Amino acid sequence: MDDLRELSRSLTTQALGRMHEHHDTLVSTNDRASAWAREGAPHGALVTADHQTAGRGRRGRTWFSPAGENLYASVVLRPDAAPPDIGAAALAVGVGLREGLQACGASVQLKWPNDLLCGGRKLGGILCECRWTDGVPELVVGFGINVRQAAFDPSIEDIATSLVLQGVPSPSRTATLATVLGTLEACLSVFFERGFAAIADRYTRHCPMLGSRVELDDDASQSGRRREVIAEGLEADGSLRVRDPVTGEQQRIQSTDVYLPTP
Ligand code: BTN
Repeated sequence: MDDLRELSRSLTTQALGRMHEHHDTLVSTNDRASAWAREGAPHGALVTADHQTAGRGRRGRTWFSPAGENLYASVVLRPDAAPPDIGAAALAVGVGLREGLQACGASVQLKWPNDLLCGGRKLGGILCECRWTDGVPELVVGFGINVRQAAFDPSIEDIATSLVLQGVPSPSRTATLATVLGTLEACLSVFFERGFAAIADRYTRHCPMLGSRVELDDDASQSGRRREVIAEGLEADGSLRVRDPVTGEQQRIQSTDVYLPTP
């Protein structure tokens, strides 16, 4: 039985998931969590759905959300004290989720800024949305993790994967969610208290693109073209430091799409 309504039996967290709404179908768990946050949802309130009719990815993309096979989850976060680098929250979420998935038996890498990869393919993604009221942040952290999906839409079948396709035996959505919420809570408490620098090595050690040539969307030119850079490392605030391989010029990138060379 893999019923997310039974999540509370497996939870080990103090706050994350202790208030939980599960829906058969939602437009987007992030939309529902944002509405719930505006109604006063507490820190850790969790929204899950078996199916999303318009799951959202970064940069306005669609997140394919077939029914019953994967995790679609959004958590409301109300940190007591937000670090100045709260813009790195999605990276901190990546660290927490990666460590949980590793504990579930998957060997997961991070791709800056928000992707979880397994076997070189996308296993999951993170969508962080932040609203400020009187200087106090309210975050909605949405994540999708492909758990039991065995076949993907032809448009993404070469780039997507799932826990079952990566050899995790009979993965359960409920057990996976309980595990990643535990590691996520532990990681976020360090991030909120001490900032991204305190967990940066837990990101960089598992981010193989650092030190390599990658391509970036050339956002500045608005041309849809890509440019090649060397991804040198992360700054203390989680931004990506890149170097132009021809001019040697260094630049800090806050957010864009990164394309890895095909092996
Ligand atoms: C990305 O890789 O672009 C981010 C994908 C985030 C998808 C999740 S699924 C649960 C939550 N609800 C949404 O509409 N999006 C996020």
